[in-house]
Amino acid sequence: PHVAVLMGGWSAERQVSLNSGKACADAIESLGYPTTRVDVGRDIALRLAELKPDIALNVTHGRPGEDGTLAGILEVMQIPYSHSGVMASAVAMDKAMAKRIMAASGIAVPGGMRVHRLEAARAHLLPRPYVIKPNAEGSSIGVFIVTAEHEHPPQELTSAEWALDETVLVEPFIPGRELTCAVMGDRALAVIEVLQGNQFYDYEAKYAPGGSSHVIPAPLKPNIYSEVQRLSLAAHHALGCKGVSRADFRYDDTPGGTGQLVCLEVNTQPGMTGTSLVPDMAAHEGISFAELVEWMVLDASL
Ligand code: DAL
Ligand code: MG
Repeated sequence: PHVAVLMGGWSAERQVSLNSGKACADAIESLGYPTTRVDVGRDIALRLAELKPDIALNVTHGRPGEDGTLAGILEVMQIPYSHSGVMASAVAMDKAMAKRIMAASGIAVPGGMRVHRLEAARAHLLPRPYVIKPNAEGSSIGVFIVTAEHEHPPQELTSAEWALDETVLVEPFIPGRELTCAVMGDRALAVIEVLQGNQFYDYEAKYAPGGSSHVIPAPLKPNIYSEVQRLSLAAHHALGCKGVSRADFRYDDTPGGTGQLVCLEVNTQPGMTGTSLVPDMAAHEGISFAELVEWMVLDASL
């Protein structure tokens, strides 16, 4: 089958998607699939009408692309595509909405509120430390950790350039360990603990070589390890995801901590770059990068 690898777009995660897309396209080309690399632009429907691919491998991150809009175009054009469908993609991209659905399914999520960015800039809405993040972004772009040292909330939120999102989530900072686990079809892959030198797992820690390290399998008690996998599957199902998704958690096992696994979010188009997490999880299960990408292609549907 002729595979169109959809990547790029104009989200804040454009460069990450180009890197993910290149890795995926290289892999399926090496397997012998006829492949076209498509940088998603406003003319994407015309491009797809000309190309007439058999399958679209969606490797976009952020909006547009990960948010169900591209899935909608592909549905209308009747082109089978990888990863989640319209609704799951749209809901997972909207962190506030995703939190409500996960909470209703018994998955612990951070507390807090969704407000206009100007409201978050006006006054501390929660006791410090707390987190302010765009409601619908990825790769930690635009995330602020407000600590006791910050007398005022971040004033960047008021600037016109801070156009990442009109609404932000204000959430209590959850101390503890960073854990992540992907679902591939109906199975959970290995759990990774992310260790980072920086204060948190920010953009640089995610993509600069050596910015963070992946401990796999995560050194957890067996019951906690399997609970991360169970929750990842539960989140995948609660949101109606398909194909591969990845759930990110904080686990506060500090003395006096809650000991709870808190799901921060589900990514319906997890990164596939050289420093990304899902390829490492798959490798740990004996699934090569090329096998992972081929699985996504063969799993594509309408
Ligand atoms: N948003 C990035 C690509 C991830 O979740 O891996
Ligand atoms: Mg994310």
